[in-house]
Amino acid sequence: MKKIYVLDLESGNDIEDFFMIKSFALKTTNNNKKYFDFTIGDKTGEINAKLWDAPEENSPYEEGQIIKIKGLVSEWNGTNQIKIMKIRTSTDDDQCHLKDYIEAAPEAPEEMYDYIFKKAENIKDDQLRKITLELLKKQEKELMYYPAAMKNHHSIMGGLLYHIKRMLMLAENMCLVYTNLRKDYLICGVILHDIAKIYEMQSNELGIVSEYTAEGYLLGHIVQGIKMVEKTGEALGINQEKLLMIEHMILSHHNEPEFGSPKRPMFPEAEMLHYLDQIDARIYDMEEALNNTKPGTFSDKVWTLHNRKLYKMNNE
Ligand SMILES: [Fe+2]
Ligand SMILES: [Fe+2]
Repeated sequence: MKKIYVLDLESGNDIEDFFMIKSFALKTTNNNKKYFDFTIGDKTGEINAKLWDAPEENSPYEEGQIIKIKGLVSEWNGTNQIKIMKIRTSTDDDQCHLKDYIEAAPEAPEEMYDYIFKKAENIKDDQLRKITLELLKKQEKELMYYPAAMKNHHSIMGGLLYHIKRMLMLAENMCLVYTNLRKDYLICGVILHDIAKIYEMQSNELGIVSEYTAEGYLLGHIVQGIKMVEKTGEALGINQEKLLMIEHMILSHHNEPEFGSPKRPMFPEAEMLHYLDQIDARIYDMEEALNNTKPGTFSDKVWTLHNRKLYKMNNE
């Protein structure tokens, strides 16, 4: 299969290749013309593509489907897009492999899991170590592919492990600077803060989330995480005070009620957990946006970053 590097597409080029439909919508122009607005891509990135004169009946397309398109790349508002001239869904004869179209974390899931597992094993406090290891082991299979989100930050295969791993790396260093932080609690909090995402979202083994679970919609990963910690903690006979501290770290990690945390962090380890989460999510989203931006220009507005446009520096 010829690999298309979406990021290198030059305006004015013809293109003919396979892509995965990441998302799409049937839209209407001001003069009532229907068209399909696609986000298509492969593991190297994404690009907008439009199919004009779309049929009005039900769409033959699905998210996650591989399509072959022939089109023309043009520039619109500083961003490349494809005008689709021909489109068809792929068949078995095309021998397309889904994994070639999926964005995945840059590190092997087994290695990330090992790194996290070792950090959990190094927790000195017996009870914190026990509950962290127990929950990690229980979710090992799902952690190998789960993304950290449906859209936005780390919505890639293995994204949840990548998020936890990078936060642990930050936590290690923060503890060198802020020596008042109790590292055992911070490490435990980092590993467990989003662990319930596995029950919040329904993901296939390629890390594509089709939707939230009913419990995910109704409770969300914060409350689900607290339930997991409570249940496992009680089964393991973990001290109530320690459980309460872990639960508060999970509860407050989004910091604000409008983002799902009913209480703000009330001790330094919980405050730090919130910031580590923010740093990792924001820097990830910036990197993603800039990957799809030409040097010397601005990205599209990024919703998760307060609708900011980001500037991509020139290489020199
Ligand atoms: Fe979270
Ligand atoms: Fe998180």
